[in-house]
Amino acid sequence: MELSLVFSLLFLSCLHGVSSESRYFTSMFTLGDSYIDTGNFVVIAAPVVPVWHDKPPYGMTFFGHPTGRLSDGRVTIDFIAEHFGLPPLQASLLNHSDVSKGVNFAVGGATAIDVDFYERNKLIPFKPLNNSLNVQLGWLEELKPSICNSTEGCRDCFSKALFFVGEFGVNDYNFIWSAGKTEQEVMSYVPEVVDNIIKAVERLINEGAVYVVVPGNPPNGCSPTILTLRSSLNQTGNYDHLGCLSDINRVARHHNSMLREAISALRGKYPHARIIFADFYRPIISILQNPESFGVASQDVLRTCCGGGGVYNWNSSAVCGMPGATACKDPSAFVSWDGVHYTEATYQYIAKGWLSGPFADPPILRAIRY
Ligand SMILES: *[C@@H]1O[C@H](CO)[C@@H](O)[C@H](O)[C@H]1NC(C)=O
Ligand SMILES: *[C@@H]1O[C@H](CO)[C@@H](O)[C@H](O)[C@H]1NC(C)=O
Ligand SMILES: *[C@@H]1O[C@H](CO)[C@@H](O)[C@H](O)[C@H]1NC(C)=O
Ligand SMILES: *[C@@H]1O[C@H](CO)[C@@H](O)[C@H](O)[C@H]1NC(C)=O
Ligand SMILES: *[C@@H]1O[C@H](CO)[C@@H](O)[C@H](O)[C@H]1NC(C)=O
Repeated sequence: MELSLVFSLLFLSCLHGVSSESRYFTSMFTLGDSYIDTGNFVVIAAPVVPVWHDKPPYGMTFFGHPTGRLSDGRVTIDFIAEHFGLPPLQASLLNHSDVSKGVNFAVGGATAIDVDFYERNKLIPFKPLNNSLNVQLGWLEELKPSICNSTEGCRDCFSKALFFVGEFGVNDYNFIWSAGKTEQEVMSYVPEVVDNIIKAVERLINEGAVYVVVPGNPPNGCSPTILTLRSSLNQTGNYDHLGCLSDINRVARHHNSMLREAISALRGKYPHARIIFADFYRPIISILQNPESFGVASQDVLRTCCGGGGVYNWNSSAVCGMPGATACKDPSAFVSWDGVHYTEATYQYIAKGWLSGPFADPPILRAIRY
């Protein structure tokens, strides 16, 4: 105890801590969307649109109260921060005074392509929040003086931090699907979405980042929300053996394979960097394929824990957090928490697979050892 206090006094700034793995990173900086948002959406959206995830039962399993996370408890980055001895990441827009251990820029609804594009091309019938990947990079830039001072000091600090860029893409593709576009048209956006993600990773590396985790897309075609919204359409022939929507999952897989290829090209360009592809697709499919071994009853596999009735327990007039919705007794017996986002148990399983394998290339703990 005294010894670690001495060490923390000696290494006040961005230095690798003591040799133990649990102190490997001095901070974490994360960009992304609602899968890892820890409160940013509530800050920017609550004054403009109705928000439900700032109400119970969000946070019922961990924290004990809503935190702005879209889950019953912790999300992937919480488990990863915990593994490295870092505190849960604060939402950047809450202006927390101490950002030395990192901050989370992720915000629900964020896209990889700037929102101006969706507005200009009339792909969305509403005014989107200005929270895309580039906007988040701008927030990071603005916060930099509170994180580090000189150019070299910042490079040094970034080199000892763990970065997350993503998941991005799900909201882009949702916008385009919702505009009534065909699968082929949605597919045609994948290169640009991937390119924006890769440019962001590259920008961080150019600013000194060495460790960057880039999560791919989850199987959004298995989302109880999307399954419900699409059930009024004639989807004959579009369900796979798991009951998920094949066209949506094909886009997710195409995105993931393009992203992996682009990451592998980036590794060639920046051999000193450790760029990790984090698979967000396979861990979920592996639960859906074998639910009983995860404690999920087969009839609940595509049903949300927190919802307001219906085949998938997702009801647009009673979404989780609204008066008509209720939560299941044991969220860990469900994959989906609210129809789009996952339960803490699902996130924990994914985080383990990203840290130790098999769901990351390379697993984070292997990337730090070579
Ligand atoms: C955070 O700081 C910004 C810039 O100073 C300010 O506009 C915003 O209202 C603050 N947000 C909160 C939640 O205090
Ligand atoms: C979003 O924010 C960025 C950076 O602050 C700005 O350049 C852009 O014009 C904004 N876009 C919209 C649609 O408000
Ligand atoms: C940067 O320098 C200023 C002025 O010396 C100081 O007030 C501030 O705390 C420094 N910031 C960091 C992150 O070290
Ligand atoms: C639904 O689509 C299938 C295949 O495209 C078609 O054979 C069937 O007639 C359609 N059913 C309705 C009710 O439109
Ligand atoms: C959806 O929620 C509304 C409002 O609570 C309720 O009236 C309706 O019966 C629900 N639908 C289903 C299918 O449970």
